[in-house]
Amino acid sequence: MERLQKSVEESSCVMSEIVLPNDGNGLGNLMGGRLLHWMDICASISSRRHAGMVCVTAGIDNVDFQSPIREGEIVILNSHINRAFRTSMEIEINVWAENTATGSQRKCNRAYFTFVALGRDGKPVTVPELIPESDEEKKRFADAGVRRDFRLLLSERILPDAAPHLQAYLDTIRNS
Ligand SMILES: CC(C)(COP(=O)(O)OP(=O)(O)OC[C@H]1O[C@@H](n2cnc3c(N)ncnc32)[C@H](O)[C@@H]1OP(=O)(O)O)[C@@H](O)C(=O)NCCC(=O)NCCS
Repeated sequence: MERLQKSVEESSCVMSEIVLPNDGNGLGNLMGGRLLHWMDICASISSRRHAGMVCVTAGIDNVDFQSPIREGEIVILNSHINRAFRTSMEIEINVWAENTATGSQRKCNRAYFTFVALGRDGKPVTVPELIPESDEEKKRFADAGVRRDFRLLLSERILPDAAPHLQAYLDTIRNS
């Protein structure tokens, strides 16, 4: 059967939250775990929109807490798919905090989530192919291939010989 094709735009998600006293870490800042929960929901929406079915979080990479988020600030989460593999997808999520008094926004966080689509029997299912359109989407698509090789290598799910994107990336660095 021919594999369905989808664009990045079809599954992008923007979500907003406000930091309430119950979300804090005792210092007036948002707890990291609460932010990860919101990020997981936002990224999960993108994965479900792309796959058209239930998806589970298989892993999270490169979570950077770059700037604390204060109680009372608005948290803006923005997720999009970078690449669909066979049954898994890499979803990138970026987070900004908005100061309601000034309206200013600052980048606080970025992470890469891997989701796997599961059928009714709980087994992984092939997801639609992602067709990157803009130059930026094409770059994110290529970079996601390198990151996938890297994460599967580090988790000992593949051997170096089965990491072509990472090998090509390392060759580029060596020859530059
Ligand atoms: C994710 C899960 C479905 C993978 O099951 P599995 O038996 O390893 O399945 P497979 O070996 O067929 O792998 C399926 C896909 O997941 C990917 N994958 C599995 N573990 C991964 C990991 N830790 N990181 C990134 N990708 C992973 C594989 O590369 C494969 O991708 P592909 O089909 O696009 O090539 C299974 O480990 C699971 O159910 N984990 C728990 C998920 C969960 O409960 N999440 C919420 C946490 S509270």
